[in-house]
Amino acid sequence: MKVEIIPPTEGNFNLEDYQKTYDHFDWSEVEKEFSWYKTGKINTAYEAIDRHLQTGKGDKVALYYFDQTRDESYTFADLSKLSNKFGNVLRKLGIQKGDRVFVFMPRTPELYVSVLGTIKVGAIIGPLFEAFMEGAVRDRLQDSEAVAIVTTPALLPRIPLADLPHLKHVIVVGEQADLPAGVISYHEEMKAVSDELEIEWVDREDGLILHYTSGSTGKPKGVLHVHNAMIQHYQTGKWVLDLQDDDIFWCTADPGWVTGTSYGIFAPWLNGATSVIRGGRFTPDDWYRTIEKYKVTVWYSAPTSFRMLMGAGDELVQRYDLSSLRHVLSVGEPLNPEVVYWGQKVFKQRIHDTWWMTETGGQLICNYKCMPIKPGSMGKPLPGIYATILDDQGNELPPNRMGNLAIRVGWPSMMRQIWKNPAKYQEYFYVPGWYISGDSAYKDEDGYFWFQGRIDDVINTSGERVGPFEVESKLVEHPAVAEAGVIGKPDPVRGEIIKAFIALRDGYEPSDALMEEIRKFVKEGLAAHAAPREIEFRDKLPKTRSGKIMRRVLKAWELGLPTGDTSTMED
Ligand code: PRX
Repeated sequence: MKVEIIPPTEGNFNLEDYQKTYDHFDWSEVEKEFSWYKTGKINTAYEAIDRHLQTGKGDKVALYYFDQTRDESYTFADLSKLSNKFGNVLRKLGIQKGDRVFVFMPRTPELYVSVLGTIKVGAIIGPLFEAFMEGAVRDRLQDSEAVAIVTTPALLPRIPLADLPHLKHVIVVGEQADLPAGVISYHEEMKAVSDELEIEWVDREDGLILHYTSGSTGKPKGVLHVHNAMIQHYQTGKWVLDLQDDDIFWCTADPGWVTGTSYGIFAPWLNGATSVIRGGRFTPDDWYRTIEKYKVTVWYSAPTSFRMLMGAGDELVQRYDLSSLRHVLSVGEPLNPEVVYWGQKVFKQRIHDTWWMTETGGQLICNYKCMPIKPGSMGKPLPGIYATILDDQGNELPPNRMGNLAIRVGWPSMMRQIWKNPAKYQEYFYVPGWYISGDSAYKDEDGYFWFQGRIDDVINTSGERVGPFEVESKLVEHPAVAEAGVIGKPDPVRGEIIKAFIALRDGYEPSDALMEEIRKFVKEGLAAHAAPREIEFRDKLPKTRSGKIMRRVLKAWELGLPTGDTSTMED
């Protein structure tokens, strides 16, 4: 397909400003907006919510919430009071600065109140995606030694309390007749506390949020971000989301993933924008209905969703009034040029791709309103961010040469730790002075970056990052499975799907029924999105002499490509 460059549109942030700040951006200028400039201390939840009460925005709607049974709105003043209350609930339980408090629940206003209240008392918030099953929940709560969790009656059975000695408090949102011993009711506790709170003022390098994400080996790792990240959330809200005072912003991501917190909570509210949260499951109609109902102006979503909507047909789009839209963005996986052209046609909007990762905490390479879009490209680095392509020895490569996408260390929202795992943290910085993303890419002669793939075996299915090791570990727990190797297989809608190659134990025969049973086993043990859509039984799997499954060879088999160097393969 021929790439057709799409000309720029009007935005807040202009090209001249970009060029002026390209080499150096003085982040300390941004800090002047916030409390530590005056007091030396900070609290992200205060800056995102309470600060706006000082500037007359208390009555402005911060959150519109809508699902099959609820239709509500909350002003900044409402969220301030409710999060104060939740902070008091936690204080009463003895929760202190630095403690890990998790939320494990669907997107509802209570989730957002819990996140803000947790941050206000200086605790570290850990969001868990509601689709996680017991195994996934256990790994994350054990690793983080979480002391409290907020959940719902439906999800409570997935928290293996007996395996979690550190977990002292379970708070349940929603009606349940008999709460198990030690479990308390969110609603009852909220009634019993004041809506005024002594905010815990913290240092900018104190922990804010812990997001678990997958690598190609080992269990999911806890990526720790600190309060300092808010500078970048705030500023990218201006440069990239182009947020203005009267915007109605809809980020469709769940807070279980980093997009749903950095850009579903922090960026819009730090900028005082109104955010829409659509709860529950939704159909293509619901997407458009949500934009129409709230007159959404800025919409941040993912390629997999755009592809799904594209599949639902253009006729559907015509049935809704989407004329409020003025800015559309995408993140999480490669944005196909076809989708960009489709967006031009049906929404009359450019879709702006953005690139970043859980570890980077905020957007780093983006398409801005003030620049032409080259469909298929992720865009250019933020002002003051130096991105490049390195070869495997750590040398910078000239334009149009593919290599390791790397960022010079030192941006405000960079992760500060892999929880309790300094060695894993160091792996990202194996070339001194650089953060190595694990993505391969090239930069063209105009400075646009083009994504090429992952260097490791991490799978990106519908924009969700899945570690093959986690899935393989679950698979081999099934009594029929002797060995398992898991790869991402290209898929037109989901980007990749998970495919498992399985060698069965003696006494088991391949069958469709067994395949279904194994799939269900992963779904119920880990999460639906981690279950292999395809399973292929093989007598033997390709392994190194040291016994490691060679996913690279599995992938080559799958794609019908040469298997490359197999000198380390066992006979
Ligand atoms: O491979 C890249 C892909 O998603 C990875 C990061 O996943 P995660 O930490 O879950 O964060 C997703 C949302 C911030 C990256 O290493 N990825 C992310 N954005 C893009 C992308 N791939 C291509 N184009 C993008 N715009």
